[in-house]
Amino acid sequence: MQIGPYKLRNQLVLAPMAGVTDRPFRQLCKKFGAGLAVSEMVSCNSALWGSKQTLRRMNHEGEVEPRTVQIAGADPELMAQAAQFNVERGAQIIDINMGCPAKKVCNVMAGSALLQNEDLVKRILDAVVTAVEVPVTLKIRTGWDPEHRNALSIAKIAEQAGIQALAIHGRTRACAYKGEAEYQTIRSVKQEISLPVIANGDITSPENAKEVLEFTGADAVMIGRAAQGRPWIFREIEHYLATGELLSEPGIEETRTIMIEHLNNLYAFYGEYTGVRVARKHIAWYSKGHPSGADFRRRVNRVDTIDEQLRMTHAFFDSLIAAGRMAA
Ligand SMILES: Cc1cc2nc3c(=O)[nH]c(=O)nc-3n(C[C@H](O)[C@H](O)[C@H](O)COP(=O)(O)O)c2cc1C
Repeated sequence: MQIGPYKLRNQLVLAPMAGVTDRPFRQLCKKFGAGLAVSEMVSCNSALWGSKQTLRRMNHEGEVEPRTVQIAGADPELMAQAAQFNVERGAQIIDINMGCPAKKVCNVMAGSALLQNEDLVKRILDAVVTAVEVPVTLKIRTGWDPEHRNALSIAKIAEQAGIQALAIHGRTRACAYKGEAEYQTIRSVKQEISLPVIANGDITSPENAKEVLEFTGADAVMIGRAAQGRPWIFREIEHYLATGELLSEPGIEETRTIMIEHLNNLYAFYGEYTGVRVARKHIAWYSKGHPSGADFRRRVNRVDTIDEQLRMTHAFFDSLIAAGRMAA
């Protein structure tokens, strides 16, 4: 898939997830084959741009290109400024968030709530595309509720505005994360527009990624929650799409190596205090489904230092490896 001058390595995109897709996680997913990883949202509120959190979000040191930054907001002029600000700091693609159901994205009308106001959507897209030289992409839901699935109409506005790729999450705003994503709307949009389309929602396996690509005709698939604690999903899907073969899941020892490297990158990026806290949720995802994982999580969530967190994590994996040897 091509976005402006950037030819992606494959059809796999890591979804933006606030609080999850920080630089260490994006790098990890790219290492496992994500062709594109969208960074966490940067608010259009310039009062927040000097905050530690925003500065960290804009840190792209060593990140595999293209560097994509998502912005959110409802004011065309502020969105244009936010786009320029991020491009000056290294963003190579700007992604606009009209897909997030959270009420307080930037103010009450941002994220997917904007889908209700097509005129405002047009003004935002025009303002951002005009403000920057880099490609601008858009992420939407299928509409604001099941009676108002206006993704096609928004897609046409996006196409006219010069948006260069459109990601569609197969749920409406009102659906939040309930029920199952539907791909019919994504398919209908793809048939009607010439922009690259990225299908998103509930893609959790190589087979399911292939089915969604085939059914929708989309140019790529975007994966969010299924990559939590499972960044190797990109390797599995890439391999399956190329060969039709399923790779086996990493064994305990490889999982431990991946996880420890991830934790060390989090500590280096955030420092000890925040690094240990951010690491907790990743530890929880990686350890899900393993025997005694719940007990390990309860204990590891109580420690506050890198040393203790690493020591307990090693001990947990050592016990899994020993149990595996006993069973063999
Ligand atoms: C924790 C979390 C944070 C998210 N944050 C954002 C965000 O900042 N911007 C956005 O456009 N979507 C956000 N999303 C939505 C995802 O990008 C994606 O559209 C959604 O999770 C559906 O894909 P999935 O089924 O593969 O997870 C978030 C989702 C989750 C679970």
